Amino acid sequence: SERSYVMVKPDGVQRGLVGEIISRFERKGFQLIGLKLFKTPKELAEEHYGELKEKPFYGKLVAYIISGPVVCIALEGPGIVASARKLIGATNPLNAEPGTIRGDLGIDVGRNVVHGSDSPENGLRELGLWFDDDELIQWDQHMTPWLKE
Ligand code: GTP
Ligand code: MG
Repeated sequence: SERSYVMVKPDGVQRGLVGEIISRFERKGFQLIGLKLFKTPKELAEEHYGELKEKPFYGKLVAYIISGPVVCIALEGPGIVASARKLIGATNPLNAEPGTIRGDLGIDVGRNVVHGSDSPENGLRELGLWFDDDELIQWDQHMTPWLKE
């Protein structure tokens, strides 16, 4: 089924929010299929945010993403991409609804704690950028009958 690339950004790692963030996706019922602490090479950050190259904040964005370790998270489940975006909340944490990750945990668009893929196609593209094939694990989630009719 559908996959998304979610990432705890360096501010989330520094602030000790890794468990909190992973926990929200786990509790929702999505399946973890990849997970690692990772120091991002600059070229990878540039490629990941390649669509934003012309934006005035692009340089600062890349510097932010490589400023410390991130946690790379691969998730699978029905509608995971759109659902993860809802759980994450609006790009600017000041506009993000309470109850969302950014709404609950941030105050600045340049320190917005977490990333989530914005389309199923980008989900697969980004998983290919951040994970090797053998780092994505297929496993039977035994609680599935308690999550899905
Ligand atoms: P991601 O999940 O990280 O891709 O965020 P998004 O999809 O909600 O927003 P978008 O892809 O448009 O922007 C990517 C990232 O660039 C954002 O998450 C912010 O970290 C950063 N960003 C976006 N807009 C601004 C801005 O106006 N100023 C600054 N400093 N950073 C911005
Ligand atoms: Mg985006």
